[in-house]
Amino acid sequence: MSDGPKKDTLTVRDNRTGQEYEIEVTDGHIRAADLKQIRVADGDPLATYDPGFVNTASCRSAVTYIDGEAGILEYRGYPIEQLAENSSYLEVAYLLLNGELPNQQQLDAWVDRVTNHTFVHENVKTLMTSFRYDAHPMGMLQSSVGALSTFYPEAIDFTDPANRELQITRMIAKMPTLGAWAFRHSQGKPYVYPDNDLSYAENFLAMLFKMSEPKYEADPRLVKALEILFILHADHEQNCSANAVRSVGSSGVDPYSAVAAGIGALYGPLHGGANEAVLRMLRRIGSVDNIPDFIEGVKGGKERLMGFGHRVYKNYDPRAKIIKKATDEVFEVTGVNPLLKIAQELEKIALEDEYFVKRKLYPNVDFYSGLIYEALQFPPEMFTVLFAIPRTSGWLAQWQEMVNDPDNKIARPKQVYVGERTRDYVPMSQR
Ligand code: CMC
Repeated sequence: MSDGPKKDTLTVRDNRTGQEYEIEVTDGHIRAADLKQIRVADGDPLATYDPGFVNTASCRSAVTYIDGEAGILEYRGYPIEQLAENSSYLEVAYLLLNGELPNQQQLDAWVDRVTNHTFVHENVKTLMTSFRYDAHPMGMLQSSVGALSTFYPEAIDFTDPANRELQITRMIAKMPTLGAWAFRHSQGKPYVYPDNDLSYAENFLAMLFKMSEPKYEADPRLVKALEILFILHADHEQNCSANAVRSVGSSGVDPYSAVAAGIGALYGPLHGGANEAVLRMLRRIGSVDNIPDFIEGVKGGKERLMGFGHRVYKNYDPRAKIIKKATDEVFEVTGVNPLLKIAQELEKIALEDEYFVKRKLYPNVDFYSGLIYEALQFPPEMFTVLFAIPRTSGWLAQWQEMVNDPDNKIARPKQVYVGERTRDYVPMSQR
């Protein structure tokens, strides 16, 4: 090793030619474009191949920090544990969007603005009523959020900060209304209009569960649990759906269309759909006695232990810890979910098993959240909607950061082409 002065660069030696290249290292990263100076055999610039972005940063971001090895999650530098304990969801949404916690006046004004945008155009309601009786609420949510772009065509001009703020407020305000209506639709019940006397979480519960009573009153312990769940799900840096929002948003489309793409990504069972999959899995296992057989199946590659493992966390997901604690408080009100016993035993066995230990597979946010949602009387199809509503603030914080980023370019990955080249068209009669 040379004793020369230390430099924040990487020397790359091309062993095919003996040529060396110096590449700058900034914030622990090299720019992939700097590799272009190195040429491959046919003269093309060298590029990286990274399916699933396992070691590629797609942006510079100041919204959310995760240390997966240590199990740390922070929004704008504030630890998730402190926010879950002391904050409200709307305060956290403000923090994510603006970078700082609001003072009382700023918070009151923000809550007031959101509350005044909870209603949607009656035609959105008509659109939602036209879905089949058994439509999945995530499909309904995605379509109705996408449809909002047609009600607010001015949203396309997001370079104007005031206009951008208005669209962001609208979307955060309307998500509970759309999510609750998707739920009422699947239940065949009349849609309930927002009650602007209530808090964000209370109003959501009212739109979900109110029947003929003049005023819906939710148990404050359940409202608190929902606030915590909303805070925990508000953002998670460059996950699949945030990446979808940024990627689609990079084309310059309006934020409703970009968020609709995020909802589509979240719908998948490897992302937000995992909590629904956890509940189905627990129900299928059925009893503690069946766990060893199930675990053997997982280890044999037959299926995955849903709610376990994470691309970033190689330690206990800090959100899962907070949710596990919240389950006790919810079950005090609702009674214990019998599936809890199976989940706890499954966790205990998996955490001791070499297969899971070796791969650093720990419970993630979805392992216990489904149990709370079920105790709150939500059917599994609603679980991902309960994720999408609070994640909207994170998606919009990521989207806003992207549109203000001078480095932003339309997302357009390269490919490694492995197909056939230039061949003559074969007439149908000769194939
Ligand atoms: N059960 C059994 N084996 C697993 C699991 C699991 N849940 N997760 C990963 N593995 C194994 C996997 O088979 C592989 O083993 P091997 O090295 O022998 O091939 C190894 O662990 C690494 O897995 P990977 O698929 O390369 O890891 P990934 O980073 O691509 O996948 C994941 C991350 C979350 C998609 C995956 O862990 C998984 O499918 N988990 C179950 C679904 C789930 O709970 N998803 C919710 C994620 S948290 C909420 C969110 O952020 O959306």
